[in-house]
Amino acid sequence: MPLTPRTLNNCEALDGQDPLAGLRAQFSLPEGVIYLDGNSLGPLPLATPGRIAQTLNEEWGKGLITSWNTAGWLDLPQQVGDKIARLIGAHPGEVVAADSTSINLYKILSAALNIAADDPRRTAIVSERGNFPTDLYIAQSLCRDRGLTLHLVERDELDAALRDDVAVLMLTHVDYRTGTMHDMAALCAQAHEAGMLTVWDLAHSAGAVPVDLHAAGADFAVGCGYKYLNGGPGAPAFLWMNPRHADRIRQPLTGWWGHAAPFAFTTDYIPAAGVNGFQSGTPSILGLAALDCGLDTLLAAEGLGGMVALRRKSLALTSLFMALVQERLQGHGFAIATPADETRRGSQVSLTRAEGAWAIMQALIERGVIGDFRAGDGKHQHDILRFGFAPLYIGHADVWQAVDQLHQVMQSGQWREARFAQRHAVT
Ligand SMILES: Cc1ncc(COP(=O)(O)O)c(C=O)c1O
Repeated sequence: MPLTPRTLNNCEALDGQDPLAGLRAQFSLPEGVIYLDGNSLGPLPLATPGRIAQTLNEEWGKGLITSWNTAGWLDLPQQVGDKIARLIGAHPGEVVAADSTSINLYKILSAALNIAADDPRRTAIVSERGNFPTDLYIAQSLCRDRGLTLHLVERDELDAALRDDVAVLMLTHVDYRTGTMHDMAALCAQAHEAGMLTVWDLAHSAGAVPVDLHAAGADFAVGCGYKYLNGGPGAPAFLWMNPRHADRIRQPLTGWWGHAAPFAFTTDYIPAAGVNGFQSGTPSILGLAALDCGLDTLLAAEGLGGMVALRRKSLALTSLFMALVQERLQGHGFAIATPADETRRGSQVSLTRAEGAWAIMQALIERGVIGDFRAGDGKHQHDILRFGFAPLYIGHADVWQAVDQLHQVMQSGQWREARFAQRHAVT
């Protein structure tokens, strides 16, 4: 990156030459805020309020129930799914937007276990000990009900864990705590070699890094609508199945919306073809309308190089942040938990500190730099300050300003003020 010294002037010059800089105008971001938490909740696209108003006032208000047919409500889960497909290397018709990531994972993981049950020796799910808790809780439930074992290992123990008693390898592609990214293609190849299926959680990947599910040879994937896809709080999630499994799928939540003919009202369940059979109940049209607008903010980059260009900028931003932290925050007790290796990094950078991470983040938020906090665990004993860099609306100068504010918080000792110790329910 041609940026030495790393000054605010140079950062502004880079932003001035950035072909993606105009994409920020798609968002309603409060003045004076540097938003580094799009990895948790993406910001509001300017188009969303109008679209929601249209859905409420015209489609629901005037069209009433006819809007299922006349306003395209019926097809929205697939239409939105097709937009997501463009971001994750899936084909049209292979992705459906529905439910939450947790519920989709339950359905997908269960379907994968049903396929794997053909070989009764395969009695384990392998995952990482530090995987996102909901993934582990869902897997625990399925293992309990089916008499299977959930084998949790550290990242560097995965190779050894892929044995012939494993039914499914279930991983989150980009780690929510550290931003570390797996080599999906290599792990899929290894897993298939050992005869197991792969299930991927793309919560921190879709819209954040280029994903190519087909090229990687993945089997199943789920992901989240409210993070990098900017779909709004509690937005519908999505799921994908490799079509090679289409004929063997049996999912557990066989609601009428996943029926081949929901409005035939037959007594017996007949699954809809392909990924549509993974739907369960009536979709949230308001949620899908908002997610559709969020996806448009990413697809607006397609003419500018798409996810490849967004990735290039994201790496420039995360590299800059790490370099500035090393340059300006030496001696303040921070360590960088995110890999320096660009091929192993998502679109966030996590800093750890032995004490005070919560208070430091609160002091930073008060100054308009919004990241978030994650408590340490058995492996990461120190608490984490997370900073997400969404290249759609973050620039190099934002990165510089964020580190400058962090430097001021530390130099002044402001974070030690008692009010910053006050904990909130959502971190
Ligand atoms: C990796 C991962 N999976 C799943 C989720 C959330 O799932 P849900 O949308 O069901 O709450 C999160 C939320 O932060 C996450 O980080």
